[in-house]
Amino acid sequence: MNIPFRMDAKFCSFFNYSKSFVAILLAILLSVPTLVSAQDSAAAAAPAAGAAAPAGAASTGGGDAAKGESIFKNNCAQCHAPTDERVVGPGLKGASSRHDFAWLSKWVRNSSAMIASGDAYAVKIYNEYSKAQMTSFPNLSDDDIKAIFAYVDQASAAPAAAAGGAAPAGGAAAGDAKGGAPSDLFVIVLVALVVVMVLVLGVLLVIVSLLSKAVKGGGAETEAPAGEGFGGLLKRLTVDPAIRSATLWIFVLLVLKSTLDGAFNVGVQQGYAPKQPISFSHKLHAGEYKIDCNYCHTGVNRGKSAHIPSANICMNCHGVIKKESPEIQKIYTSIENNQPIEWVRVHNLPDLAYFNHAQHVNVGGLECQNCHGDVEKMEVIQQRSSLTMGWCIDCHRKTEVNTKDNQYYDKLVQLHASESKEALKVADIGGLECSKCHY
Ligand code: HEC
Ligand code: HEC
Ligand code: HEC
Ligand code: HEC
Ligand code: HEC
Ligand code: HEC
Repeated sequence: MNIPFRMDAKFCSFFNYSKSFVAILLAILLSVPTLVSAQDSAAAAAPAAGAAAPAGAASTGGGDAAKGESIFKNNCAQCHAPTDERVVGPGLKGASSRHDFAWLSKWVRNSSAMIASGDAYAVKIYNEYSKAQMTSFPNLSDDDIKAIFAYVDQASAAPAAAAGGAAPAGGAAAGDAKGGAPSDLFVIVLVALVVVMVLVLGVLLVIVSLLSKAVKGGGAETEAPAGEGFGGLLKRLTVDPAIRSATLWIFVLLVLKSTLDGAFNVGVQQGYAPKQPISFSHKLHAGEYKIDCNYCHTGVNRGKSAHIPSANICMNCHGVIKKESPEIQKIYTSIENNQPIEWVRVHNLPDLAYFNHAQHVNVGGLECQNCHGDVEKMEVIQQRSSLTMGWCIDCHRKTEVNTKDNQYYDKLVQLHASESKEALKVADIGGLECSKCHY
């Protein structure tokens, strides 16, 4: 009668229910950050935005720079460094002080229009970079562009910190170029979550033990002979059905989570850089000696495959250059034995997908670096893009078709212009149709 509340059956079942509910909730909470970090660029931005929020609160305007970092990495990093280092285009350090914002936004949205309009600086830099076309980004908003340069300013102001991955606000954004790898802040958040979960679990355990004591209420204590101490508590917990079901749920959800994580990454080999049989360096050949990619990858303008050069192509030069080097001797051995050099394949789409180099390089006018990164700086070749379907589609949505001097598109351009003010994107010419990419 003087018991403050009654532990009747209804209450108990509600309690069981709510406890496993809390457990499920916690397990889901724990799973979420990793569940969303799928690898394609759109998804990669999601955890970045989420994880960057706390950092943004700690530093003034940091959120902007964090957003800028992910936009920069997805769109500009193939061609620009945030420092003054030259990649394909100039280093962007100080760009925001060289130009006012109006100039920058016009340039980023459509640099070729600016060059065509005769803007003195635009023409000068275009010529300086041997008339390399910068991609246009008509769908970046003012905010996006501001964010990019906020990031560039931040990264160039503290290059050492940025290189260490410890830039206070940007550290959380978008992982690194290899993608997927969680940043420091992300790990801290995860650890904090785990700690909170353990604490909550502890509290739950205490409540459970108190309640089970109350239920048994000093009566005949037949089931829990171990009574006092930690051992006794543990024993009671293992027979408690609510705890058992909670544990089961956590276990099931964790297994589910890691299975899903695994599934998202099956076949994704971003960052793959196997050791090759001959230490052939793109940095030396394509970078320092500026040998054209086409010279060796003879298929890029003509067909589906780019082709890996045969040993004969190497011999055009190495018949005389560095003959005595043991690495070069391997080329000789291969030719003498009539055995091809067994290069390890790096990029490899599954057979269900169709990709054609000539369509992209010759017709589309894309640079190799758009998809392969700065190969001319790689000592060992590495897969820089994820090569997932999301990656292909993302670019098809964003990229304008190169219709210049291509009569094939004249009619289409006319039709499109009569229907829409937007530029003709790859998506508009069927670049999202399943059958274009799948046999
Ligand atoms: C395909 C390579 C490529 C990509 C991608 C690219 N750029 Fe460029 N960018 C260039 C080149 C090349 C130049 C030099 C001018 C020229 O040749 O057109 C340049 C010049 C610039 C300049 C002028 C630099 C200066 O020193 O005044 C700015 C600013 C710039 N880019 C910003 C961006 C931003 C922002 C992005 C991403 C949204 C981006 N670029 C993406 C190739 C690229
Ligand atoms: C257009 C000329 C040219 C072609 C083609 C060429 N190379 Fe080279 N390669 C060079 C030059 C130049 C060097 C630098 C030599 C030096 O350091 O004195 C070099 C250096 C090397 C080295 C480093 C040798 C050492 O011990 O330092 C290797 C390995 C090599 N090449 C492999 C290859 C392979 C494999 C191919 C064919 C796929 C190839 N090269 C095609 C010009 C070429
Ligand atoms: C002198 C010849 C030579 C030149 C020039 C050259 N490559 Fe290569 N490339 C090779 C060889 C040999 C391999 C295979 C060995 C390796 O992976 O390093 C290769 C491999 C590659 C691969 C990876 C292929 C795979 O297995 O998925 C890519 C991508 C690539 N090259 C891009 C380029 C680009 C872009 C350029 C121009 C900036 C370029 N190459 C210039 C010889 C060359
Ligand atoms: C639009 C993106 C894109 C562009 C641009 C691009 N590549 Fe590729 N490249 C790929 C993809 C995707 C693969 C994998 C193809 C496959 O497995 O069927 C690949 C594969 C390769 C390979 C391996 C051999 C092969 O053909 O499968 C080489 C070498 C290569 N690319 C070189 C180049 C060079 C050199 C350029 C510039 C002239 C270039 N790529 C431009 C996307 C691109
Ligand atoms: C860097 C941007 C970019 C990436 C990444 C990219 N594409 Fe494309 N793709 C283009 C452009 C630009 C065109 C339009 C070329 C033209 O003018 O026909 C195109 C055209 C195509 C077409 C022909 C579409 C048509 O209607 O004629 C196919 C098929 C295609 N791409 C497949 C792929 C596949 C598969 C991948 C991924 C493995 C991929 N692309 C990745 C830019 C890209
Ligand atoms: C621009 C090219 C492109 C278009 C358009 C495209 N896909 Fe894909 N798709 C790919 C590539 C490339 C892969 C392989 C990606 C990978 O291995 O991660 C792929 C993989 C897939 C897979 C997964 C197969 C597996 O083994 O995991 C399915 C299913 C799929 N595509 C269905 C579709 C459907 C349905 C459509 C139309 C709505 C479509 N695709 C349109 C390029 C494309």
